[in-house]
Amino acid sequence: MNELDELLLHAESQIRQANDLKSLDHYRVSYLGKKGQLTEYLKNLGQLPAEERPIAGQKVNAIKQKIQVILEERLTALKETEINSQLSAESIDVTLPGRGQLPGSIHPITKTRERLEALFGQMGFTMMDGPEIEDDHHNFAALNIPELHPARTMQDTFYFPDGSLLRTHMSPVQIRTMEQAAPPFRIIAMGRVYRREFDLTHTPMFHQIEGLMIDENVSFSDLKGILIHLLQNFFETEVPIRFRPSYFPFTEPSAEVDIGCLSCKSKGCRICKNTGWLEVLGCGMVHPNVFTAVGIDTERYSGWAFGAGIDRLTMLRYGISDLRALFENDLRFLRQF
Ligand code: DAH
Repeated sequence: MNELDELLLHAESQIRQANDLKSLDHYRVSYLGKKGQLTEYLKNLGQLPAEERPIAGQKVNAIKQKIQVILEERLTALKETEINSQLSAESIDVTLPGRGQLPGSIHPITKTRERLEALFGQMGFTMMDGPEIEDDHHNFAALNIPELHPARTMQDTFYFPDGSLLRTHMSPVQIRTMEQAAPPFRIIAMGRVYRREFDLTHTPMFHQIEGLMIDENVSFSDLKGILIHLLQNFFETEVPIRFRPSYFPFTEPSAEVDIGCLSCKSKGCRICKNTGWLEVLGCGMVHPNVFTAVGIDTERYSGWAFGAGIDRLTMLRYGISDLRALFENDLRFLRQF
């Protein structure tokens, strides 16, 4: 009897310590299996004197049941820990941020466009738009570039069979604006323009911004004041600026605007071809022939306009030396912005 009590104690402590299903089964077999320790007792009952057998039998059976209960309890406990650890191993934390996200970035040309729109917006200019496929009238004729004008060669473009063409500059938007409404105007237009040229510094498609201001008493000093303000804010430095007389068919007088070379601080380098200056835009007072073409009274109104390359402004502002980088979509380049 004492042996049986000890067996129970021993079994209980072993079973409670079993920490996986395999060792638990091992203990079940070693106590209750065909050759298990308790089974041996049952088998040996027959050797006891007859009057002791019932008590011993009861005892062995009671202990067998107790061990079964203990095994059962341990089994439930082990299964529960197993499920819990499986659950926590397989659980998904839906609050974790996703892995390997590569957020996009704003293309440098778009950044420049947004800056220009904001800066002109502060000065009361609104954005206008026009088609990329233009007609001869808006792209050339109404801008005082008649059919045999040499400026057409400088802006050779791509023509469609019906005579329409890919616009060579943003100036047609001036014409469309003036045709559709009456002065005063303060507008800018930005978009893609096309020319038949392709080399290290020219692509067949590039971007331009065009501006137009028309009102009574608008003079060249309005042009200078606004463009100087714009350029210094765009480059965020007091860059030297000079107005150089030039020629455009649609303006008279006309000027080109240079800024002091940003990379050598006007000392002269490869980028400014040792001149210390970089050309950034063309501008001038709107030609009376242009006003006449759109039916604006040249006695009452005057105005100025300008055009600039957005790609060039972008390269200068961000120190990009190769124009092609803007169009190749190399992620290593684009991610820097
Ligand atoms: N349209 C000209 C070009 O593409 C740029 C330009 C120069 C526009 C002077 C203007 C201007 O409005 O006044 O080369």
